[in-house]
Amino acid sequence: MSIPAFGVGTFRLQGQAAVDSVRNALDVGYRAIDTAQIYENEAEVGQAIAESGVPRGDLFVTTKIWVPHYARDKLAPSLKDSLARLRTDYVDLTLIHWPAPGNGVPVEETMTALAEAKAQGLTRQIGISNFPIAETRAAIAAVGRDQIATNQIELSPYLQNAALTAFLKEQGIPVTSYMTLAYGKVLKDPVIGRIAQRHDATPAQVALAWALQLGYAVIPSSTRRENLASNLLARQLRLTESDMAEIATLERNGREVSPEGLAAAWD
Ligand SMILES: NC(=O)c1ccc[n+]([C@@H]2O[C@H](COP(=O)([O-])OP(=O)(O)OC[C@H]3O[C@@H](n4cnc5c(N)ncnc54)[C@H](OP(=O)(O)O)[C@@H]3O)[C@@H](O)[C@H]2O)c1
Repeated sequence: MSIPAFGVGTFRLQGQAAVDSVRNALDVGYRAIDTAQIYENEAEVGQAIAESGVPRGDLFVTTKIWVPHYARDKLAPSLKDSLARLRTDYVDLTLIHWPAPGNGVPVEETMTALAEAKAQGLTRQIGISNFPIAETRAAIAAVGRDQIATNQIELSPYLQNAALTAFLKEQGIPVTSYMTLAYGKVLKDPVIGRIAQRHDATPAQVALAWALQLGYAVIPSSTRRENLASNLLARQLRLTESDMAEIATLERNGREVSPEGLAAAWD
């Protein structure tokens, strides 16, 4: 089992905008879709999949469990509700969305409940999101490292997460980079811009190719069909070692997302 290197994100997309974005993504060739219970667009993702006519077996659908459903008796029922909204009888990957320390449910309980949901066939793979090293260790202790298909984390040229990615590599846990474009900020970066010019590529393709070449999966989102299509072409872009080294110098701990109560102490 493994996770696809390229998918489409759906954060912030609501109603018809979510349906249209996922339909466009499927039309231009995406086969992996990232949603979450808290995005309140699982029904729209399900609608877009149904309308697309793409066979379910060709798709890789990821959702994420939201905090009130972390307890053992709540997790599987909430995932069943997600499946109903998504109009499917399984998801390919289910993640715990945030560690949410202090919410009263230990990581071990949540991860054990998630593994049970997998054993019931509700999800093919399981994983974590926004988990720093200490919480990842707790997740590993609960279910074993081989069970954890990915840690989905904010990661862009401005936030390269050296310590956490080194730990995940050592543990053999694949990384998914979210907000690889730092919600558009890295697209204005002059270094990225020059590399893009040299390759006759877009800045978004450069940022995405950089993450892919480091071995990370990516899930960029867009409301525009042309951006969805051109982002996918990052898979064909080969950056040189010196391009990669230049991008490595852009690190600035540029974290965009760290919600109080949800995030644990970052490494
Ligand atoms: N696990 C978590 O806690 C978590 C948190 C945040 C996000 N995520 C996931 O990661 C996905 C990606 O993150 P994101 O959507 O926040 O940010 P992102 O993919 O870094 O950036 C999306 C933004 O970039 C713009 N964009 C995309 N392609 C572009 C292009 N080729 N040229 C110019 N602008 C472009 C989009 O605008 P246009 O619409 O105008 O193209 C949008 O404003 C989310 O959708 C979600 O699925 C997960």
